[in-house]
Amino acid sequence: MLMRMYDVIAAKRDGRELTTEEIYDFIKGYVNGEIPDYQASALLMAIFFRGMSEREILDLTMSMAKSGDMVDLSAIEGIKVDKHSTGGVGDKTTLIVAPIAAACGVKVAKMSGRGLGHTGGTVDKLESIPGFRTDLNREEFFDVVRKTGISVIGQSGNLTPADKKLYALRDVTATVESIPLIASSIMSKKIAAGSDCILLDVKTGSGAFMKTVDDSIALAEEMVKLGENAGRRTCALITDMDVPLGKNIGNNLEVIEAVKTLKGEGPEDLTHEILYLAANMLELADKGSEEECLAMARRAIDDGSAMNKLAEMVGAQGGDTGVIFDTDKFEKAKHSYVVKAPQSGYIASMDTEGCGIASVMLGAGRETLNSPINMSAGIIIEAKTGDRVEAGDTLAVLYADDEGLFASAEKKYLSSIRFAAEPVKRNPLLYAKVSANGTKRMV
Ligand code: URA
Repeated sequence: MLMRMYDVIAAKRDGRELTTEEIYDFIKGYVNGEIPDYQASALLMAIFFRGMSEREILDLTMSMAKSGDMVDLSAIEGIKVDKHSTGGVGDKTTLIVAPIAAACGVKVAKMSGRGLGHTGGTVDKLESIPGFRTDLNREEFFDVVRKTGISVIGQSGNLTPADKKLYALRDVTATVESIPLIASSIMSKKIAAGSDCILLDVKTGSGAFMKTVDDSIALAEEMVKLGENAGRRTCALITDMDVPLGKNIGNNLEVIEAVKTLKGEGPEDLTHEILYLAANMLELADKGSEEECLAMARRAIDDGSAMNKLAEMVGAQGGDTGVIFDTDKFEKAKHSYVVKAPQSGYIASMDTEGCGIASVMLGAGRETLNSPINMSAGIIIEAKTGDRVEAGDTLAVLYADDEGLFASAEKKYLSSIRFAAEPVKRNPLLYAKVSANGTKRMV
């Protein structure tokens, strides 16, 4: 190795800019095991406090992207658009916007993740469809995209190994919430995944990594710059995660709500947000102005073409299309339990992370990295922030196979809700749009 890791740590500790070579050597040495976790941790903490210059963040991102396979999608004709959410509760948007984009003629060849902590993951949700395969090999993946215009699979084994190792280390060394580290982690994966255009859905609020709009915009601006510098058209929407999105939380419950929304019968908040996300994917792929793309996205729902696209993808990846066309056929949890309002009033706020944890406690998420999940467990929310309820009204219905889980999940859910005597204003759904042309605040 060319550098002494001690000198690199000391340089960043003292606020010096690291060279391109130092950054590439660090990533290479850490992935191949030459640099131990304790030295990598020290450097991460120094980055956490000292930050990084634009050039350093780009070097870190590209060195991480190149630490494993760089997927080449050029064998698939047309413009490929990816979409990434920074993670949330009830966030089933990929299941809706990817089929809309594909129905409007854009190719979606997407790798998604599993649930993490209190947040759900698209791969787990898709696997709640009986038979659906998320482990397609490269040829199968390309074939499905060529045939249907859309495929969503799990991340291949050797995509950004540097991020896998660094993310696990950050998780246990209190170095997750750093803009250079989050931006490089997300963008290295998106750049390695090979799409021409990238739409970022940066969540803000109590259920998100970034709790304030200003921090979310700063993260989005960094990620858009990274994408554009890597030659990908990149845009970000800052969206609300101060309240769960839609009504359903949990794997097959979210697929059911996604199908409803694709049929034009979804909840208002979710429908509004997915139209903007889909329109921005189409705009990135040069399908027209945002207004024109919004109209295209609406049409794809109204004429059923987006719904058919989802069914085509499910069929092509081995899934049972019967449950997609008739969601009553999805397996149901053995038991349900009604959470009642303990008092009358307005719902003033929902700690969205707490709602996500309640769903995990019912079995919808993993308590540890490899624990199994229950595909039909979760929560259907009946009253959200801003709603008026009377004591005894239904706030939510919990679903689980084990009745013994309801008491603690109910306690967690209720402790996440605050009531107020006076009417409460709901948050906007969209806060800002960040693109190569600059940042446009919407509120
Ligand atoms: N998601 C990622 O992939 N990486 C982060 O650092 C945070 C969220």
